[in-house]
Amino acid sequence: MVNPSPTGGSRAVARCDTLGAPPFSDMEGGLYRGYLTPAYAAAQAALAGWMQDAGMSVRRDAAANLIGRYEGSVPDAPALLIGSHLDSVRDGGRYDGPLGIMLGIEAVDALRVSERRMPFAIEVIAFGDEEGSRFPAAMLTSRAVAGTLGPESLEVTDAQGVALADAGVDVATYLTAARAPGSTLAYLEAHIEQGPVLEAEGLAVGTVTGIASQLRYQVQVDGMAGHAGTTTMKLRRDALAGAAEMVLAVERIARDHASDLVATVGRIEALPGAANVIPGKVRFTLDIRSGDASRRDRAAEAILDRIAGIAETRELGITIERIHDLPASPCDPMLMDLMDAAIVEAGQPVRRLVSGAGHDAMVMAALGPTAMLFIRCKGGVSHNPAEHVAPADVDIGLRVMLGFIERMGAVHVG
Ligand code: GLV
Ligand code: MN
Ligand code: MN
Repeated sequence: MVNPSPTGGSRAVARCDTLGAPPFSDMEGGLYRGYLTPAYAAAQAALAGWMQDAGMSVRRDAAANLIGRYEGSVPDAPALLIGSHLDSVRDGGRYDGPLGIMLGIEAVDALRVSERRMPFAIEVIAFGDEEGSRFPAAMLTSRAVAGTLGPESLEVTDAQGVALADAGVDVATYLTAARAPGSTLAYLEAHIEQGPVLEAEGLAVGTVTGIASQLRYQVQVDGMAGHAGTTTMKLRRDALAGAAEMVLAVERIARDHASDLVATVGRIEALPGAANVIPGKVRFTLDIRSGDASRRDRAAEAILDRIAGIAETRELGITIERIHDLPASPCDPMLMDLMDAAIVEAGQPVRRLVSGAGHDAMVMAALGPTAMLFIRCKGGVSHNPAEHVAPADVDIGLRVMLGFIERMGAVHVG
């Protein structure tokens, strides 16, 4: 039995806290770490040191993911991948993503201290772009690793006009980050729950059963810019007033569903953006999710129909681009059983729950079986600087991960 360091959970939390401020954040007074920004490079440098201290060899792949490798006792056996993401949303929390990476490092460190090798290598992967907070794409880097990314997805440009090709990666070789089929034993991701269920039930951890499907659009509304003082109300084609009606329609349709369906307009931009100019152009994002992809798709159809209807009535132009479409991703039943057993061994009750949030795990499912462990977070708050996780809960999470890894070792004896 591999015992985690008694300070492993608090060290994992402290490292996330360290990465929560400049130079590991691109903003003062909070955390924003975009893919391939200066803060991203600084965080990778710190992570590389922590991975080496834990006994891993470290490399950066063609998609700029940072990967630490702890060799197993059986050369060339498929590796157990443990990962999560290093990027964050704007003004986000410190644990969404990095905690799963730190826990991977702590698990390997515990194996190193106990002088244990598993019959498979363990690779800890810090993915670069899960949130899609810099480029209009999400999970670029895990999709590159899973081999599910097409070259057209690399033609993206950030809000400052910087193309991915000029951001510090070579797009000509980017897709070589893909792992060979058969090289992955399984993918394990620990993550804060980002919801209220575990806290409400007084539980530190839970086994994830699957991840809800996601759909994301970029919508552009074209009206006519004009003078705010002279253009009478009847003559206006105000893109922002039209977009406002569309946003409320999105909310109403999602609410009327009375299911797990959720729809969000999370970013909106009105142009030219002046107090005395009627907005001539508006761009907004639309994110739609449900555990049931057909329910999600039906709702998306109803929402897009309604948006088109509003545009027609108001004589506005409309352009809708689908920028992201991921199916629901079930976790592996056998691995869920192993996770439950590790939770029991850690002295915790078993609780299974579904993830409404997206994770790199849903992409990594293309390479092999996936498992996820949720750790309670305060108030279920996430994508918010108030995000908080208790080190004691993270200690339990670490024990569960080690129990899970040991059970994987017993199943896959070399
Ligand atoms: C990632 O946090 C997502 O669910 O969008
Ligand atoms: Mn997130
Ligand atoms: Mn996350």
